[in-house]
Amino acid sequence: MPKNPIRRVTDEVVELFAHPGGRAARPRAHALNFFNRQGNRRVATALDLRAGQHVLEVGFGGGAAIPTTAAALGGSGKLCGVDLSADMARLAADRFGRAVFACGDAQALPLRGRTFDHAYAMHSHLYWPSPAAGIREIHRVPRSGGRLLLGMDVVSGIRLLEWFGPNYAPAKPALLVQLLTDAGFTDVRTEHLTRGVVAVIGVKP
Ligand SMILES: C[S@@+](CC[C@H](N)C(=O)[O-])C[C@H]1O[C@@H](n2cnc3c(N)ncnc32)[C@H](O)[C@@H]1O
Repeated sequence: MPKNPIRRVTDEVVELFAHPGGRAARPRAHALNFFNRQGNRRVATALDLRAGQHVLEVGFGGGAAIPTTAAALGGSGKLCGVDLSADMARLAADRFGRAVFACGDAQALPLRGRTFDHAYAMHSHLYWPSPAAGIREIHRVPRSGGRLLLGMDVVSGIRLLEWFGPNYAPAKPALLVQLLTDAGFTDVRTEHLTRGVVAVIGVKP
């Protein structure tokens, strides 16, 4: 049976955020950056990133976090991004030459273990088929003492999905605290990056 027109529009809006790319990839990247810029700008401070560190971003999309992250890491640091969308990886590589961007799945990262100081994913775990599997996979990647930050907008992001994204079951902060703890992270806590954007942060022992 054909979808009703309202459902078709809401599905398209949700997919713009969940899986950007394809036709009009560049305007989709701009739209993501416009909506998500405030929280992304606060990631470097929340993770206490330092010059010279190696950091992984999962699901970077249009790259809203990249300018502040790269500035905190300085010339001697290294930022590596993995995103499911090949178009987002291509656009980020064009725009931010020094960092390395790859197309890949949070749940099967194309990376060796213990190679990064810290890792983060902003507004991305909401769309992973299994956030628990993604968190377990990311746990492999940081060195001992490394932090993982997962950020989400609990007002517009989570609510938008609950209303219009019946194919998604977004993990809220309380569940993420549990999932990070189950995956082996310690000192797991939450922090507001903006009024609506909450980060869950844990430390790999
Ligand atoms: C809402 S966008 C957020 C982009 C960016 N982090 C931001 O805050 O603007 C979600 C991003 O997660 C990516 N993504 C979705 N599922 C993924 C997965 N399983 N593995 C890696 N990236 C994924 C999408 O391609 C998209 O770029």
